[in-house]
Amino acid sequence: MPGVPVRVVVNGQARDAVVEARLLLVHFLRDRLGLTGTHVGCDTTNCGACTVHLDGQAVKSCTVLAVQADGAEVTTIEGLARDGELHPLQEAFWSQHGLQCGYCTPGMIMAAADLLARNPDPSDEEVRRGLEGNLCRCTGYENIVRAVLEAARSGKAPSVETPGPPRSEAAEEIGRGVGA
Ligand code: FES
Ligand code: FES
Repeated sequence: MPGVPVRVVVNGQARDAVVEARLLLVHFLRDRLGLTGTHVGCDTTNCGACTVHLDGQAVKSCTVLAVQADGAEVTTIEGLARDGELHPLQEAFWSQHGLQCGYCTPGMIMAAADLLARNPDPSDEEVRRGLEGNLCRCTGYENIVRAVLEAARSGKAPSVETPGPPRSEAAEEIGRGVGA
């Protein structure tokens, strides 16, 4: 099967590859780039474990083709820490015990980072609504919500996110269709 050339800036680094047109972004990230922090929980757009940022917007990467990300910026969980410092959301998930097995955690944090970038001071209800596309089988969600509220109170969460370019039409379209 002939490949399609793509260039995607992942965590600030340009990555060129030739991919099958049917390759999902999540498999491109995990299998081609070795970024296994992005998880696959369902492959059917239900669980949110695969959430990454595409041009600054949270998307479920099992619902995006790698070729759709051509020319875009992608941020994964590996791209959140800066200079050896955890992102405030990572700190807050740790301090508030917002995880147990941790399988959902990368997707939760990427979805929460998008939420705080759009709404730096969310209410409890707004956090719950903002994360409704992300499923957790372990925690009962209470500590996850607490962690997001703690990161919001720190006032630092949006400012250390990878600054992305204006959202591309592709990212807007995918975001509208999928949500995270
Ligand atoms: Fe479950 Fe993508 S792997 S939504
Ligand atoms: Fe186990 Fe969320 S911590 S699925």
